[in-house]
Amino acid sequence: MAYEAARTSEVAYMDEVRRLFGGYKQGTFDRLRLQPGHRVLDVGCGPGSDARAMAARVEPGGEVVGVDRDEEMIEQARSRPAAGTPVRFVLADAYALPFEDASFDGCRSDRVFQHLDEPERALAECFRVLKPGGRCVVADADWGTLTVATSLPALTRTVLDLGSDLHRNGWAARSLYGQFRSVGFADVDCEMSVAHTTEWAVAAWAFGLEHYAAQAAERELISESERDAWLADLRERDRAGTFFSSIMGGMAWGHRP
Ligand SMILES: C[S@@+](CC[C@H](N)C(=O)[O-])C[C@H]1O[C@@H](n2cnc3c(N)ncnc32)[C@H](O)[C@@H]1O
Repeated sequence: MAYEAARTSEVAYMDEVRRLFGGYKQGTFDRLRLQPGHRVLDVGCGPGSDARAMAARVEPGGEVVGVDRDEEMIEQARSRPAAGTPVRFVLADAYALPFEDASFDGCRSDRVFQHLDEPERALAECFRVLKPGGRCVVADADWGTLTVATSLPALTRTVLDLGSDLHRNGWAARSLYGQFRSVGFADVDCEMSVAHTTEWAVAAWAFGLEHYAAQAAERELISESERDAWLADLRERDRAGTFFSSIMGGMAWGHRP
């Protein structure tokens, strides 16, 4: 199954999460209100799928630029076919975008802010490179809203709280609205949605449940036998067809006045 490959590579992980849970992405493209001739930036573009998806909306005469701080991601993005489309990829950090002030009509960032210690600083960079009237959309998960149906609620609280805290900015989605307002965007709005799975094999890696359980035991927040009991309960639910897990994600958007 594709998600078995996704366990072994970060790029495969991103591709597979996009396939399973990427329905919201269309909403991020729509809210940028892209037009032919627009110049648009995708911050933390990963292997570049979203940048390529936006290309048709800015043709003719426009350009999509994807930036990522990870060389492997930029290499992957450049190696994937985008012949004839106005897309390019640049190695750069979200905190120091190598672009002039007021040089883009649109800017988006998707599932990047959860990795940032200073998300508001990155958002201020997006604001800086936007032209007056330029639109910004940021989407992310909120790891503090991860749920799983379980027979062991106390252990579950411990594991899921740790899972959220393992992210630099685990509460990314709920923070976006306020960050857009603080940075100075106008007409700020937001939307939340829920992704769910009824398959343990998907939740184990895509929602990180197996990793959080392992980390909770390693950090001695739970014992090894508690970890095993917790995982066994979830696997048993999977066998019985009663497994369920969900997480909320959200996006906020606005424009530079
Ligand atoms: C979960 S991936 C998301 C990729 C893509 N936006 C998507 O939705 O498929 C997060 C990406 O953010 C990038 N990233 C994390 N911190 C960054 C930073 N400070 N500057 C630029 N990219 C960053 C990572 O290298 C990674 O490619």
